Amino acid sequence: MADTTLPHLVTPLPGPRAQQVIARSDRALSPSLPRVYPLVPSHGQGAVVEDVDGNRFLDCAAGIAVASTGHCHPRVVAAIREQAGRLLHICGADHYDPSYIHLAERLAALAPGDGPKKVFLGNSGAEAVEAALKLARHHSGRPYAIAFYGAFHGRTMGAVSLTASKPVYHRGFGPLVPAIAHVPYAYCYRCAYHLAYPTCELACVDAIEDQLLAHTIPPDEVAAVFVEPVQGEGGYVVPPAGWLPKLRALCDRYGILLVDDEVQSGIGRTGAMFAIDHFGVVPDLLCSAKALGSGMPVSALVAQDAVMTWPPGAHGSTFGGNPVCCAAALATLDVIEQERLVENAAHVGGRLLARLGQLATTSRLIGDVRGLGLMIGIELVRDKVTKERAKEEADALMLACFRRGLLTLSCGPNSLRLAPPLTLTVEQADAAVSILADALDHVERGRS
Ligand SMILES: Cc1ncc(COP(=O)(O)O)c(C=O)c1O
Repeated sequence: MADTTLPHLVTPLPGPRAQQVIARSDRALSPSLPRVYPLVPSHGQGAVVEDVDGNRFLDCAAGIAVASTGHCHPRVVAAIREQAGRLLHICGADHYDPSYIHLAERLAALAPGDGPKKVFLGNSGAEAVEAALKLARHHSGRPYAIAFYGAFHGRTMGAVSLTASKPVYHRGFGPLVPAIAHVPYAYCYRCAYHLAYPTCELACVDAIEDQLLAHTIPPDEVAAVFVEPVQGEGGYVVPPAGWLPKLRALCDRYGILLVDDEVQSGIGRTGAMFAIDHFGVVPDLLCSAKALGSGMPVSALVAQDAVMTWPPGAHGSTFGGNPVCCAAALATLDVIEQERLVENAAHVGGRLLARLGQLATTSRLIGDVRGLGLMIGIELVRDKVTKERAKEEADALMLACFRRGLLTLSCGPNSLRLAPPLTLTVEQADAAVSILADALDHVERGRS
């Protein structure tokens, strides 16, 4: 019998039913929606998605790193059904919804740091970041924020002002939120200072102090530094070991809050509950979303108790922490814990990374493979010495993977990301590498 956990294509892509849906979508929907390839999903189970024509895909994109427990995990679905039959909505901001409180307690216990923490629940990653920016300003009484080139923090006005990954996110939307400065991330493959780790001694952190804080922004007017512990949309960039601790120390010297944006990297994805745990750093604020609800829209801002000081009414959300979403998040955390999915992400991710590293040695286009757990980036270059970005080739590779039944997603200008469900098996990881190798071979031969 065929293995239903692996891809299987029965029509050319997109199939006839898919084409009908796509034609309608172009007439009905906002043209701002990016559309990466013509996938028209029907249903999913685990790491497999089936489209409306019966084609089966291995999902290494997980709806942008969201389907953490896999598609439609029975325990998550049962929790959603049970809660939906009892109470759909009550507004956890105005009343004392037990599921809101329970989720807050669970997240406070999981987030880094031994001290007490407080939690605000929202609906999206951007909403958690927006809340963090407001809280950082409110608590500190300082106006400025620092973020990184390549960062993606969301698309609402505050979050998009912190974002600096592609000009399209800013074009036409200015003036943005003022008092936000960007500095280079620890992107060692393309060091902004043309240095090499570890001999650089993490000069990129020193530069924040010696350049930005010394010449333009008074450090005592900086509320917060916003950082992704692994840069997501910017290219799945993993900083070197000492970088986050050094950034934490810089913040401490000036009383600046460290905001850890774990919207993409959190809830087990990197083989730790939160990516910042790999670096032994405790942030003041932490933003979580994507993987938290296995697909239901729920996000969280977790802050050290002493920081979450805003008064009643200062911030809230009608739908944030909706009971059905909280039920999904609580079931997600249960499944992650009981099925040991953090450990699985570390184990299967490690194997995936090693096998992709091998592929890189024989590939003309792969310049860099990097990642933690099941958050893996593959950067394509036209020349391994000049590192000229191979953007068209990265897009072609994503499409070639799709045509072979593997869902991936591009990131950064010229990288591909793998962010599958944390349930991915070794067999599925090996299948993903085989498909990727075949797709790469075709792109390297100039076909797609
Ligand atoms: C690190 C990070 N922060 C924030 C966001 C925004 O999340 P959302 O799209 O749920 O608003 C994203 C989305 O990709 C992200 O990767």
